[in-house]
Amino acid sequence: ASTLAAAAQQSGRYFGAAIAAGKLGDSQYTTIANREFDMITAENEMKINATEPNQNQFNFSSGDRIYNWAVQNGKRVRGHTLAWHSQQPGWMEAMSGNSLRQAMINHINGVMNHYKGKIYAWDVVNEAFADGNSGGRRDSNLQRTGNDWIEVAFRTARAADPSAKLCYNDYNIDNWSWAKTQGVYNMVRDFKQRGVPIDCVGLQSHFNGNSPYNSNYRTTIQSFAALGVDVQITELDIQGGSATTYANVVNDCLAVPRCTGITVWGVRDSDSWLGANTSPLLFDGNGNKKAAYTSVLNALNAA
Ligand code: G3I
Repeated sequence: ASTLAAAAQQSGRYFGAAIAAGKLGDSQYTTIANREFDMITAENEMKINATEPNQNQFNFSSGDRIYNWAVQNGKRVRGHTLAWHSQQPGWMEAMSGNSLRQAMINHINGVMNHYKGKIYAWDVVNEAFADGNSGGRRDSNLQRTGNDWIEVAFRTARAADPSAKLCYNDYNIDNWSWAKTQGVYNMVRDFKQRGVPIDCVGLQSHFNGNSPYNSNYRTTIQSFAALGVDVQITELDIQGGSATTYANVVNDCLAVPRCTGITVWGVRDSDSWLGANTSPLLFDGNGNKKAAYTSVLNALNAA
């Protein structure tokens, strides 16, 4: 196959990208995105501050631009993200306790109802675990509403749209030896044991000098999958753009049947949140395929 999406489809997987609504008028950008990717994540437009800028006043204008572009071009959509300590609107940042808990529930219901039946998988909860060696939860206004906030979010999400896969999504849970990875693993195992609805784990997989790709990544993917959840690589970028590392990541996903797809966090280097000078993506700033692109395509085609 000659595109990332078609190559991934050969093994029943998808290959996606994060898309920004503000770039849908850039024809070089949309040409590449339409040709290469079959799963779309809104980079910012379905986040809490975008979809509920004022309490209980929902705004789906930017999210719908991305959703409609994707579906009109035959693509599926990952939803990102419903409950997160970051990119909360000011009204939510100022809340605490039971009123915040109820606002979170209302937000999940409002957004999932708008997109009901239309989303492949939702990142229901994003980045709820702490960095460092604790393996515990991140302190946040949501965490301070009670340790059960994550399972409440997942139960709310299941009821709101039973057709969407429900994911827990985080960064720095790629390395199996890290405490944060083990913390999330223990939560997912607990959820599966107690019947809390969860279908997938998203490994963001932002690789850089401080959190480099490690060959135990395949063990991480296998271990989560063995709990009975799908694994998706949800926000892949690799600072420096090593073609070898990109191939390793793809091969590790391909080695695990329940690793169902890979999403890169942007199209061209110039679109990346990291800045083009870090060369993190598969296309350069002129839209040319990089060596990393070829190594990803070849790995997918070899599966
Ligand atoms: O659109 C406004 C613009 O109007 C304003 O003038 C400008 C001034 O700061 O800000 C613009 O918004 C920025 C937005 O990106 C769109 O470019 C925000 O400030 C900026 O914070 C926001 O950054 C996003 C970041 O999440 C926020 O947390 C990045 O684009 C996005 O790539 C990044 O994505 C996250 C995932 O959601 C979760 N995992 C990590 C990943 C990378 O940080």
